Amino acid sequence: MALLRVEDLSIRFGGLAALADVGFEVAEGEILGLIGPNGAGKSTVFNVLTGLYRPDSGRVTFAGESLLDLAPHAIARRGVARTFQNTEVFRPLSVLDNVLVGLHSRLSGGVFGAAVWSPRVAREERAARERALALLERLGLGDVATMEAGGLPLGRQKRLEMARALAAEPRCVLLDEPAGGLNPTETRALMDLIVRLRDELRLTLIVVEHDMDLVMGISDRVVVLHYGRKIAEGKPREVATDPAVIEAYLGSAEDA
Ligand SMILES: Nc1ncnc2c1ncn2[C@@H]1O[C@H](COP(=O)(O)OP(=O)(O)O)[C@@H](O)[C@H]1O
Ligand SMILES: [Mg+2]
Repeated sequence: MALLRVEDLSIRFGGLAALADVGFEVAEGEILGLIGPNGAGKSTVFNVLTGLYRPDSGRVTFAGESLLDLAPHAIARRGVARTFQNTEVFRPLSVLDNVLVGLHSRLSGGVFGAAVWSPRVAREERAARERALALLERLGLGDVATMEAGGLPLGRQKRLEMARALAAEPRCVLLDEPAGGLNPTETRALMDLIVRLRDELRLTLIVVEHDMDLVMGISDRVVVLHYGRKIAEGKPREVATDPAVIEAYLGSAEDA
């Protein structure tokens, strides 16, 4: 059964149809690649799924419940987390504190409750730090936990953003161009990490990515958008040889 179901999603910005009748499903435990040339509508899909954009029409169902009338924090609480195309770590904070920000939404007192000291809050804070450190270890950031996040190289900032998304213990994670700016070695390591996270944390993922080797290498299925429309869907091998997909990418290369 599908964990996430998107149906007939449409959204316009002025005269531009950023998404037109887009639909797809993601099964629990699946890695879905979401690809398409620049401006195809990939980030817009994520913005709709996480409540930042309200579509003009369509339906989004997660674990049987509609997400469309929920605020972003409510969607996060239901288990959908994301990273952003432009890395958004809190630069002056330490690496560890960046993850703790992600964890605090889950603590019983929340951010405000935690401001009032009590033995219970202190216990929760300690447990949160331990969980955050374990997560940083898992993502290969254990050695830089006390460093200022803004001082990390881009590849590690992107991993930190993933750690922050995972801190909320999501069921489904949306990664927007996780390999952007990475070299081939870093990209290969990131691929292995994403698959390992899926297996170990039983995650469901949607990965938007320009690096075809990465996205074709890790995705169970791929959905292709072009000018806001879904033009193909299938196994990586089927999609990579689909004439409509090849044409979309060649056409956009000529435009550039
Ligand atoms: N908030 C917005 N206001 C106006 N246009 C937008 C907005 N968000 C996205 N768009 C437009 O929608 C189209 C799809 O954008 P986007 O989803 O960011 O593409 P992708 O992530 O596939 O490169 C683009 O033409 C973009 O300029
Ligand atoms: Mg984008």
